[in-house]
Amino acid sequence: MDVLPILFRFLHIISAVTLVGGVLAWVYGFLPGLAALSADSRAKVENAAAAAWRPLVLTSIVGLLVSGSWNFLTNFLHREGLSRGWHPVFGVKILLVLHVFAVALLATKPGNTKRGRQLTGIAVSGMLIILLSAVLRILSK
Ligand code: HEM
Repeated sequence: MDVLPILFRFLHIISAVTLVGGVLAWVYGFLPGLAALSADSRAKVENAAAAAWRPLVLTSIVGLLVSGSWNFLTNFLHREGLSRGWHPVFGVKILLVLHVFAVALLATKPGNTKRGRQLTGIAVSGMLIILLSAVLRILSK
């Protein structure tokens, strides 16, 4: 049994779950839960949570870059017989990924007053990326 593909697939999926799941929990659970607090207390709690969450965001970005690049370079770079749509769909996925990575890093900075709106944007992009990844899987068979 080839262990490396399993390890890298695990790393890709656990990092995607950590990043996108964290954003969804923040936007649809944590933010509505904080709405009852005063603006001052809300900012304090949000900034503390963003500081605690940031290392996890950084770790999952590194995990996705390492595992995604490994997967691309070993399985797809020179692969023949891929459906014609695979590369354009992969290109759109990578653009959305760059948006998610950049905005997640911005949103977890301290004192950010646009955090809620930024995280809502990347919740949508994150779900689209997962949809496109499912399409890629079908196109690569
Ligand atoms: C927010 C960031 C990302 C998310 C949420 C994400 C999510 C996913 C998911 C859910 C899969 C399907 C996994 C499977 O069925 O084994 C996948 C596959 C894949 N991902 Fe990502 N990914 C992200 C970033 C990246 C990056 C940065 C790269 C490349 C540098 C990449 C390259 C790939 C490749 C090559 C596949 C296989 C596609 C196929 O089956 O044809 N991903 N990704």
